[in-house]
Amino acid sequence: MDLPPSNKSYQDVNYWNERYSVEENYDWFKTYKDFVHLLERHVKKTDRILMLGCGNSSLSESMYNDGYKHIVNVDFSDIVLKKMNQRLPSMEWITMDIKHLAFLARSFDVVIEKGTLDALLVDEDVWHISDKGAEMMSQIMENVHHVLSQTGKFISVTFAQPHFRLPLIRKTFWEVNYETFGDGFHYFFYVANMKTESPEGER
Ligand SMILES: C[S@@+](CC[C@H](N)C(=O)[O-])C[C@H]1O[C@@H](n2cnc3c(N)ncnc32)[C@H](O)[C@@H]1O
Repeated sequence: MDLPPSNKSYQDVNYWNERYSVEENYDWFKTYKDFVHLLERHVKKTDRILMLGCGNSSLSESMYNDGYKHIVNVDFSDIVLKKMNQRLPSMEWITMDIKHLAFLARSFDVVIEKGTLDALLVDEDVWHISDKGAEMMSQIMENVHHVLSQTGKFISVTFAQPHFRLPLIRKTFWEVNYETFGDGFHYFFYVANMKTESPEGER
């Protein structure tokens, strides 16, 4: 797949629809087997999982085959979701913009994203996020917070360095830790836990 003319395309649903009309599978930042040792420490097989910006990645399928049977996948490209639904009808595939997650409060135990926030933040200066970018991240994090159970966690798999990604996640309610994986180039596996002291009703 050729690179788009501008990185901004990664924010554009038309770019993704066009891409997914011809591309069948692409895994951004490695595959499940490369970070399963991290994931299995944080996610239970019985957890209700929401996958943000699933694309045509094999991640949900690999997790499903490994015993994670409660996965709901969302993406804003209906083209890719139709294809994924045909390929893997045992999981849910829902067209949705992650800036406007339309799920009831506390519907999930774990929310996972891999490369999706990177696509949304693609034109940001890594040292100085714009007001618009910061506002978008707060909105997404608040959405994620809303759909997570009280002991829920948010997992972000990305190439974004901690100095850039941590403040954006921490701003909204989280205790965040991270580990790295990969050989040569290292990717980051962030785990954000809900702060348990949040009083009832403040969510
Ligand atoms: C870099 S790809 C990552 C795909 C997949 N998660 C993976 O690991 O390979 C980004 C994905 O996010 C989706 N996406 C981008 N912006 C989105 C938005 N606002 N709401 C929902 N999905 C979005 C794109 O359609 C694309 O599938």
